[in-house]
Amino acid sequence: MSDPLTPAQMAATHAAAFTQSRPWSAQEFATLLDSPLVFATGDTRCFSLLRVIADEAELLTIATDPAYQRQGLARTCMSDWETRARACGAAEAFLEVAQDNAPAQALYRTCGFAECGRRTGYYRRKDANPVDAILMRKALR
Ligand SMILES: CC(C)(COP(=O)(O)OP(=O)(O)OC[C@H]1O[C@@H](n2cnc3c(N)ncnc32)[C@H](O)[C@@H]1OP(=O)(O)O)[C@@H](O)C(=O)NCCC(=O)NCCS
Repeated sequence: MSDPLTPAQMAATHAAAFTQSRPWSAQEFATLLDSPLVFATGDTRCFSLLRVIADEAELLTIATDPAYQRQGLARTCMSDWETRARACGAAEAFLEVAQDNAPAQALYRTCGFAECGRRTGYYRRKDANPVDAILMRKALR
């Protein structure tokens, strides 16, 4: 996982992976990446986007192309962005995950994240009721 990703490549992988929510556009990725506080790790098969502000890192998104899922790519990507966050001075990391997203919750738990809060009805769904956002945290030091 070393080649830099373009916003268009991120948008393509994101759209392939996210079937329950609106995928982010290439322009949205480009705008986020304009910030010196936002970093990407991964490649076209699996990538993550994180933001580090002072000693806090936030996972903005992570996605694996369905053709490459269950091969350990997201686990590696998580490890890579945590290393990057620590190098930027982060002491703890946060993320949000939908209550109905069992694969992502399983990934985060295996990577050492634990629930630290909830936002009720935070995620809208196309043909179903909104679902809660689960907030998760991990100490990086
Ligand atoms: C969540 C996601 C990023 C996982 O990517 P992945 O590359 O398939 O994950 P990995 O192969 O690295 O899996 C690592 C561990 O996570 C857990 N996991 C991953 N996918 C899982 C699934 N479908 N069901 C249960 N556990 C799963 C397992 O513990 C797995 O370890 P194992 O394969 O040894 O059992 C991928 O399913 C995805 O892109 N989903 C759509 C986008 C999304 O929901 N992103 C997160 C938003 S918060």
